[in-house]
Amino acid sequence: MKKTIAPEIRYIGVDDNDLDLFEGQYIIPEGISYNSYVILDEKIAIMDTVDARKGGEWLANLEEALGGRKPDYLVVQHVEPDHSGVIAAAVEKYPSLQIVCSAKAATFIGQFFEGKTFNIKTVAEGEVLELGKHSLRFIMAPMVHWPEVMVSFDPESKVLFAADAFGKFGSLGDELFIEGTEDWSCEARRYYFNICGKYGAPVQALLKKAAAAGPAIIAPLHGPVLRGDLSPFLALYQTWSSYGVESEGVFLAYASIHGGTAEAAEKLAEILKAKGCPKVAMSDLTRDDMAEAVEDAFRYGRLIVAAASYDGGLFTPAHTFLHTLQMKGYCKRKVALLENGAWAPSAGRVMKEMFAAMKEIELVAEPVTIRSRMRSADIPALEALADTILA
Ligand code: FEO
Repeated sequence: MKKTIAPEIRYIGVDDNDLDLFEGQYIIPEGISYNSYVILDEKIAIMDTVDARKGGEWLANLEEALGGRKPDYLVVQHVEPDHSGVIAAAVEKYPSLQIVCSAKAATFIGQFFEGKTFNIKTVAEGEVLELGKHSLRFIMAPMVHWPEVMVSFDPESKVLFAADAFGKFGSLGDELFIEGTEDWSCEARRYYFNICGKYGAPVQALLKKAAAAGPAIIAPLHGPVLRGDLSPFLALYQTWSSYGVESEGVFLAYASIHGGTAEAAEKLAEILKAKGCPKVAMSDLTRDDMAEAVEDAFRYGRLIVAAASYDGGLFTPAHTFLHTLQMKGYCKRKVALLENGAWAPSAGRVMKEMFAAMKEIELVAEPVTIRSRMRSADIPALEALADTILA
């Protein structure tokens, strides 16, 4: 892999291809990278460490990049353990290392490394760390995606070290860089909405400050380094963080116990397509990746949830889906509901209550109810539901 991202700036991150769940919940079939960089100037700054799982490999990468020199600073932009796992080992190996971080990060480092003593220099918004030719201007980015986060901009190389922002699931293999969003957006979107989705306003604030800096390269803490024309990446982040609609179409998520609800959902998809809906994306909430369902709910402007009733409430996979949407700040969408119930349908009531707790959700109609299985007599109601959500 080519490891120089700009003159004097080297990538020293690592791939993790055998972690089953990222952050204890997200499947990562293509792995994940924990990115880290080193700026080899008169003074040497390391930009974040990695997850302790890959500490040995990272320390070896660092040693190789240093070529016998000693690092001066370890800039800790984010203290979440996937980036701070090797802080203590790095300081043990290079005792003169000074940690540079926000005041809140210093508190968190104390929590994670109780009993360890570090030489910490705290920095605030706009402060500059001079390295020689390069310098780092720190931009506070609270809640992107923890409160202590900051990003760093080097005017010499125009590299924006972006912490979790612009991150993506998937390990890097031999491809450190990406130009254009075509091969980036899918897993970057799943990453964004599940990791940062709730924090749209803080991401918007960061985007303003980042755009003003005028980066030519964005170096995130996960996934490839972005270069070339950055405007498509920035435009997607603008859409995502403002909860705008990225793609025209309907996302139809269903949770079926014995197949009756799934059958009705399939029929509804057929009706939507026949009525000219440009795209009907579907997810079986009982089997498909929940993080991908969350991503698609945000991607499209219209959502239909079809769910079975269960224990006097809502079938659990649909409940988990709606609860997750609520947690992630789901808003500004048109929603239609379909419930199934053999004797006392209750899914519609619970879904209505759950969507009522979300902001700017337009429930376009009362839930359509089917009893056990869809009958031909139910088709007009499905047609009307399709017309309403597409209107
Ligand atoms: Fe990649 Fe918020 O840690």
